[in-house]
Amino acid sequence: MTSLNVNNQPVAYQIDPQTPLLWALRDASNLTGTKYGCGTGHCGACTVDVDGRAVRSCRMTIAQAEGTFVTTIEGLSADRAHPLQLAFLAGNVVQCGFCVPGIVMAAAALIRRNPDPDEDAIRAAITNICRCGIYPRLTDAIRRAAA
Ligand code: FES
Repeated sequence: MTSLNVNNQPVAYQIDPQTPLLWALRDASNLTGTKYGCGTGHCGACTVDVDGRAVRSCRMTIAQAEGTFVTTIEGLSADRAHPLQLAFLAGNVVQCGFCVPGIVMAAAALIRRNPDPDEDAIRAAITNICRCGIYPRLTDAIRRAAA
């Protein structure tokens, strides 16, 4: 059994401790907002927050996550849209949308660390890949959400 906290709920996974956190979240917890893109830590579609850090959940086993506090896109803002989500909507940022949950989670970790990130800080922190190429719009939206 592997115990951690997911979206403010204690969770005890009865699965192989070497299971990537991504698959525990998606398959065992049915939190499908966290996406599978590459499975190799490159694309960022699987980004979640682990103890305040943006983490690529395809590269972390649940054994490594034991005892941590994990937040997924579903838990980012429990009762209303997060300011980042509102800024993404207002800025018409989303195109296909597949990568966006991971980007929002990476951006939320950035804004917590740096409440007023400039464009360089955003580019350095948001290394997620978007095949639709929404980068200029998402940079603007993150700056608006942080302002
Ligand atoms: Fe994890 Fe691409 S699925 S980084």
